[in-house]
Amino acid sequence: MLFSEITDSTALVRVDLNLPDLQSLDKVTCIVPTIRGLLNRNNKVVLYTHWGRPKNMEEEFSTKNMVETLKRSLAQHDITNPIEYINQSEDFENALELIQKSKSSIVLLENVRFLKDETTKDETKAYSLAAKYAKLADVFVDDAFGTSHRKQVSNYYMKDMLPWCYGLSHQQEMMALMTLKNNPKSPYIFIMGGAKLETKLDLAKKSLKKADKLIFGGLLVFTFLQAAKGLGLDEYKDVDIKNSKVEWDFVNEAKRLLKKYPEKIILPIDFVYDSDKKLGEYAADIGPQTLEKYKENIRGAKTIFWNGPLGRYEKVPFGQGTAKLARFIANLEDVYTVLGGGDVVAAVPHDVSKQFSFVSMGGGASLEFLN
Ligand code: 3PG
Repeated sequence: MLFSEITDSTALVRVDLNLPDLQSLDKVTCIVPTIRGLLNRNNKVVLYTHWGRPKNMEEEFSTKNMVETLKRSLAQHDITNPIEYINQSEDFENALELIQKSKSSIVLLENVRFLKDETTKDETKAYSLAAKYAKLADVFVDDAFGTSHRKQVSNYYMKDMLPWCYGLSHQQEMMALMTLKNNPKSPYIFIMGGAKLETKLDLAKKSLKKADKLIFGGLLVFTFLQAAKGLGLDEYKDVDIKNSKVEWDFVNEAKRLLKKYPEKIILPIDFVYDSDKKLGEYAADIGPQTLEKYKENIRGAKTIFWNGPLGRYEKVPFGQGTAKLARFIANLEDVYTVLGGGDVVAAVPHDVSKQFSFVSMGGGASLEFLN
């Protein structure tokens, strides 16, 4: 079905409000057009999302804590409807009754990950939970691009249960990333930061085939630097990572990639350090020489895709490397620039990110989509 066809209905809308913290409103901002569109056509909007990776019903991850943030943020966009929190996770029948009775046109359900079958690999269980959700609404809208790489009940399985369509932000994400996927103008620079080397290594391998340069940042670099030293690469022999964590299981794979793509893989040559009791001194951000090296490699690019922060941006001043490189990119001309993922979006100042061609809310999702 088409989004514009949804009228006078109850719409169950999967959003991605997996907020890094309650101050980060970007993920709320991007679902505004979908909510507004549905409200304008007299629909009741039943939002649901995951938040974090709770093992069970952990109070800290209850979407109840999000209601005020959501209200405040929607009000900034002139959506002032009351929002009612309804907990479906204990009793779906009761939730249905509450939704039907609710005078609010916006409802926020409880964290979908409070129910363990949300992430089950057992299809029978998955469909059984999806059937319960389906009873709550007439149509399903998937506006959670950030979750599109997850095969979970609240996004994936719902599509078999109700008439459905993508929400407006999901549609926009796919269109913007399609340009990168199908037709990236060369030189194409891929900046990959953040954490989770385990999940990113495969994507890095695939990207190395398409991109002209792959610049690494964040926690991914230590394993590559270890590999570079193992290979005796001169440029990296004096780079000191102090006690930063090397993922030893992946050092050999990193070596293989460095051998295969010596010109394409770009790594830091200095750092800014921090320390804590547990780790001692560790690299918390890229250093000034690395920043210059990265700029040199980026100058002249026609396409830039950036996923994941370069340093520990949550702690002042370790977001400087990310912010400075972002400002440099934002001022380049004649280049298609995409910033992808909640963390890097949170790390880059707003006045800078709005100068990018597109800001994607999907971290892992945008990486999956591109590969
Ligand atoms: C994200 O924030 O990247 C998405 O919401 C996916 O979250 P997940 O990795 O916990 O599934």
